[in-house]
Amino acid sequence: YPFWAQQNYANPREATGKIVCANCHLAKKPTRVEVPQAVFPDTVFKAVVEIPYDTSVQQVSGNGSPTGLNVGAVVMLPDGFTLAPQDRLSDELKEETAGVYYTQYSDDQPNILLVGPLPGDQHQEIVFPILSPDPATDSAIHFGKYQVHVGANRGRGQVTPEGEKTNNAVYTAPAAGTVSAISTDANGATVVEITGAGGAVTETVPAGPTLTVAVGDAVEAGTPITNDPNVGGFGQIDAEVVLQNPVRIYGLLAFFAAVALAQIMLVLKKRQVEKVQAAEGF
Ligand code: HEM
Repeated sequence: YPFWAQQNYANPREATGKIVCANCHLAKKPTRVEVPQAVFPDTVFKAVVEIPYDTSVQQVSGNGSPTGLNVGAVVMLPDGFTLAPQDRLSDELKEETAGVYYTQYSDDQPNILLVGPLPGDQHQEIVFPILSPDPATDSAIHFGKYQVHVGANRGRGQVTPEGEKTNNAVYTAPAAGTVSAISTDANGATVVEITGAGGAVTETVPAGPTLTVAVGDAVEAGTPITNDPNVGGFGQIDAEVVLQNPVRIYGLLAFFAAVALAQIMLVLKKRQVEKVQAAEGF
């Protein structure tokens, strides 16, 4: 869950660029984001995060029964960019963000936004309403091109915050040997006993994954003894946004106007010269 990232990591993006959700959500699935190429200061715009997956597929819930997938996302904006306040949203944006609850990553990181978990079948697209900062009122902010980092996930994770495997993961043989017994424990989990050179070891498989070994099978240490029940996955993507100075646009337009005018003047001058030449009989 996004709040597990908050609780365990001061910054959701590691020095390598990896977003920390990937530490527990081990499978990779695509994530897309749409942001404007450029925005003016103190302007509301939207970032649209897409988390595509096949909604007809179900995953295993905590007790092993089939259930739908939920989605969540983290958007890391440039410094100064924040969630847009409700009273600045257009009617269209209000509609697009209805029912979505946004949190900032931490008190001192209002530029990092979290959403989720949300039901995935209704939220394969999550709209983040964003307010750009104004360099005129905050001297720490400068015009320029900045990076946006986005991570989004669908489906349950494979690792708990305590470092334990969930029931939405592949279970493997703890040692090489032969599967000597398969039984069910008091909690309904399957206990696989493997007897090898070092004696008998067991691996407890909770409800969720399906066993792929039977008594008598030979296994190597670390080889899977179940299928991979996980149908979800995490993906991250970077985007760029320019905090654009409107004065530059006015300047550019003025320059274009000057060029157009100069060209017209040159044509008029040429006409004038041609007239003089005609009058003088050249
Ligand atoms: C569940 C997103 C970080 C471990 C979920 C779910 C979402 C999600 C949407 C619900 C999935 C479903 O019910 O179908 C995210 C995002 C993260 C993040 C966006 C980063 C910002 C983490 C971290 C850990 C983790 C850091 C481990 C420390 C899990 C586990 C579950 C889960 C174990 C399944 C919980 C259960 O159903 O028992 N996450 N997560 N997640 N997440 Fe994350």
